[in-house]
Amino acid sequence: MRSTTAVVLARRPQGTKVAEALELGTIDLPELTPGTALVRNQYMSVDPSTRGRMDPGEKQYTTNFEIGGPLDGSAIGIVEESASDQLPVGATVRHRMGWREYAVVDDSASTVCDLGKAPATSWLSSMGQTGFTAYAGLLPVGALAAGETVFVTGAGGAVGSMAGQFARLLGASKVVGSAGGAEKCAWLVDECGFDEAIDYRTADVRASLVAAFPEGIDLFFDNVGGWQMVHALHAMRIHGRISMCGAVSNFGTADQPSLAELIEVVLRRVTIRGFIVRDFEALRPEFEARVSAWLASGELVDRATIVQGIENAGAGLEGLLNGANLGKALIRLS
Ligand SMILES: NC(=O)c1ccc[n+]([C@@H]2O[C@H](COP(=O)([O-])OP(=O)(O)OC[C@H]3O[C@@H](n4cnc5c(N)ncnc54)[C@H](OP(=O)(O)O)[C@@H]3O)[C@@H](O)[C@H]2O)c1
Repeated sequence: MRSTTAVVLARRPQGTKVAEALELGTIDLPELTPGTALVRNQYMSVDPSTRGRMDPGEKQYTTNFEIGGPLDGSAIGIVEESASDQLPVGATVRHRMGWREYAVVDDSASTVCDLGKAPATSWLSSMGQTGFTAYAGLLPVGALAAGETVFVTGAGGAVGSMAGQFARLLGASKVVGSAGGAEKCAWLVDECGFDEAIDYRTADVRASLVAAFPEGIDLFFDNVGGWQMVHALHAMRIHGRISMCGAVSNFGTADQPSLAELIEVVLRRVTIRGFIVRDFEALRPEFEARVSAWLASGELVDRATIVQGIENAGAGLEGLLNGANLGKALIRLS
């Protein structure tokens, strides 16, 4: 029986203090059976949903972690031994058995990544669930049309930086993002091609949005929720749409607005649609073809903030929840 080092949930965390709730442990690896392969993980994705899964309440769209058990999540690695024709030794594969150094993966839940189309890190970022979330939230969910105006919260992060850039590449007439701090805001405008960026920590967000969108926001892509969502409601165009992707402010912010603020949805006849990316799997080939072309042409900036070592994985997740990442947050395994 083989074993591997994994990140284990030692106790339930409070707020964004997740590093102290995680410990390194050793878990057994199953023997290879037909259709499986042994993968040495290279990069692991760091996602806000991992924090949600550390709570006891069932989240409906996924399973929660048990105390004493390993975490999991998207990862990419190299096949070292294989009992599957679809996962040859040496192939780079993406799978869901991250937060551990080695994993035995099933070919039905793994994707072989073509490194000719995009580098390994991009298969967890622009070409991965991150980019696909942005794509699904803009097109099938948000029904973005060329010439429309778009506002993105959490724009300096993984999904947000993709959502804003995809919107521009899909013909939006104006793209504005909000992010925490001057460095992220400068990156959005100078490198990612956003028309404007609002530092939500220092700016009057509502006034900035009303000034940036004199005719209103057609499509609001919300990663953050809370007060920024309310501020954006006051800048929506009549019959505007909100693509509700997530509410990362729920984890660290006690000051949340009242539901009474939603009266603005009535006054502006706004449509709000929440979504979970896995409902749009049929669009995956179209998405990969478009994004790999944008990467090849240099029109898309795909940046990652990489933390080194599984022993720093908890700190990497805590950093993400506190805004330490510019673009996609990843852990690199040695
Ligand atoms: N619906 C789906 O299927 C789906 C799939 C994947 C992800 N998501 C959601 O998409 C959102 C973005 O995920 P991601 O992986 O791209 O993470 P991310 O944006 O790369 O990282 C989270 C960012 O949230 C910001 N943040 C933290 N607390 C905040 C607060 N109180 N107010 C405003 N901003 C805050 C931080 O940036 P600042 O420095 O700007 O504060 C941080 O960098 C999350 O809500 C996630 O749950 C949804």
